[in-house]
Amino acid sequence: MKIVEQIKQPIAFEMDLFEQKFRLSMSSRVALLNRITHYIVNRKGKQMRPMFVFLVAKMVSNGEVLERTYRGASVIELIHTATLVHDDVVDDSNRRRGFFSVNALWKNKIAVLIGDFLLSKGLLLSIDNNDFDLLKIISVAVREMSEGELLQIEKARKLDITEAIYYDIIRKKTATLIAACCSLGAASVKPDSQDVEQMRKFGELIGMAFQIKDDLFDYGETQIGKPTGIDIKEQKMTLPLIYVLNTCSPKDKEWLINSIKNHNRNSKRVKEVIAFVKRNGGLDYAIAKMKLFQNEALQLLETYPETAYKNALKLMVNYVIERKK
Ligand code: IPE
Ligand code: IPE
Ligand code: MG
Ligand code: MG
Repeated sequence: MKIVEQIKQPIAFEMDLFEQKFRLSMSSRVALLNRITHYIVNRKGKQMRPMFVFLVAKMVSNGEVLERTYRGASVIELIHTATLVHDDVVDDSNRRRGFFSVNALWKNKIAVLIGDFLLSKGLLLSIDNNDFDLLKIISVAVREMSEGELLQIEKARKLDITEAIYYDIIRKKTATLIAACCSLGAASVKPDSQDVEQMRKFGELIGMAFQIKDDLFDYGETQIGKPTGIDIKEQKMTLPLIYVLNTCSPKDKEWLINSIKNHNRNSKRVKEVIAFVKRNGGLDYAIAKMKLFQNEALQLLETYPETAYKNALKLMVNYVIERKK
């Protein structure tokens, strides 16, 4: 059995029901909006965030999920979808999930408004059902994601990113939402328990590993359904490059910075930078760091009894770093 099927087995019922609810959560009376949201839901992603919500909820409660667990999962997937639609505008990217991105088909103006619509649909789903404790978890994540994206832009402009700032960026732009999935999963069934904080921490650690993996894809040639090799073009410096900048000779550093600053649109030069990073151990370093986050995350699961849910979460942690897309 494929690893994803194994992970989904203890939450198969919940994921099926989630999918129906998620589709309904996007509806609108505006025809253009419906056309675009149909386009989006028909090209679904890996749905890792709802999987985290259900697996954590069931692990901490020994098998229980509530209606508000489903709503929480939908809100998070709506917000995730909104941020991807906006992210492709910000990154000027024309592919997502193996198809054209919303901005590629309908232009930036519409993509910005679609993202706002999805965000507001998510927030209202919590508000209309008085899930204010869950809404608080989610709203913190939304704020931090915006801050993370802006911090990334600031650093791309100044080219002065350090490893510590890189971690700060990915914690905000990616890990926070996965942390929200896990703490929300716990809070939806056991609102005032210690599990809420422990699972937030767990999600944050695995979210860090998740984004390092995503940044490694950019250095690869495999087809992942979105462009690769675009980070340097966007002057986005990720862990492999940061490590090499910190360890190479001053002369090489000057060449690297000059390449990124003044030749980032020259694809031959970008390829040379990528080759340099690979030759100098940038990928190996990032992989090692990713595994440290992974192991720390796994340790946080240790205190829970052995159940099918815990086992699936462990598989999920491994899937995050071994996935092919
Ligand atoms: C992509 O997330 C955005 C990042 C935080 C790197 P996913 O890789 O989970 O995207 P989908 O939903 O599966 O397309
Ligand atoms: C992920 O950022 C999107 C957010 C977390 C908001 P990236 O720009 O690194 O992700 P991809 O590679 O386009 O999915
Ligand atoms: Mg981006
Ligand atoms: Mg992007």
